[in-house]
Amino acid sequence: MIRKGGAAVFGRWSLDLNNSRREEVLRQNIDTGKVPRHVAIIMDGNGRWAVEKGLPRQEGHRQGVETVRDTVRCANDIGIGILTMFAFSTENWQRPTWEVNYLMSLPQKYFESELPELISKNVQVRLIGDAARLPRKVRKTVEDGSKATRHNTGMILNFALNYGSRSEIMRAVNKLLDDAATGKIKGQVDEKTFSDYLDTAELPDPDLLIRTSGEKRISNFLLWQLAYSELWFTNVYWPDFSTVHLLEAVHDYQMRKRRFGKL
Ligand code: FPP
Repeated sequence: MIRKGGAAVFGRWSLDLNNSRREEVLRQNIDTGKVPRHVAIIMDGNGRWAVEKGLPRQEGHRQGVETVRDTVRCANDIGIGILTMFAFSTENWQRPTWEVNYLMSLPQKYFESELPELISKNVQVRLIGDAARLPRKVRKTVEDGSKATRHNTGMILNFALNYGSRSEIMRAVNKLLDDAATGKIKGQVDEKTFSDYLDTAELPDPDLLIRTSGEKRISNFLLWQLAYSELWFTNVYWPDFSTVHLLEAVHDYQMRKRRFGKL
């Protein structure tokens, strides 16, 4: 028997038991009046998780999809209004073709197994990023998911696919220039108008950004929208991220004083 943190640990089974007790306590202690309305997640560390276990990188991504499923369930349970997940960046095209192809197969895998549950739980699926450059099949999968859930009024599950914040800002600027040229908008543009040209138009900015795997970077994710978000980092790789970690992040968020530059 090993004593760890005062608790008896009898291997994996007992660790799971400790985790489920911890999850229960964390859930009971969530301040339901202060749940972050919008949580954004940079899911990082799939590759390292796999390599450290002597597994192919794809296995990390496959396991990462399981984590997406559990995270979506928990976020919905605790009343998070919008969950934005960074699934594929504009820079990820530079990975080897086999890995890009595998990453591109994940939305279909996810929606095939999860869409019925998302529909039954009133979750609305959305997409941000440059969809026009996604392979047709991937685009169709996600668009079918959004169509099937578009009248849902519960949590918004926003997948960032072929997303890069600078590319999003440039697309917005170019749309603005077009609209200015045709007289659709006149004079100067304010922050609200500019926000409405972004992929996240009409969504509130994230209250909380979570990044896994120990990296402390924003990596071209929601640069405009994260201006006043609270940041939460964990060393845990995405495939090992659990509902306990999400609840810990929300607890930590609830302890913070957000001042938005004021006193
Ligand atoms: C970063 O890990 C993760 C990604 C590039 C992909 C994240 C995608 C998922 C977890 C699944 C998406 C699911 C759906 C439903 C679309 P990495 O490969 O950069 O890890 P590393 O830094 O350790 O190499």
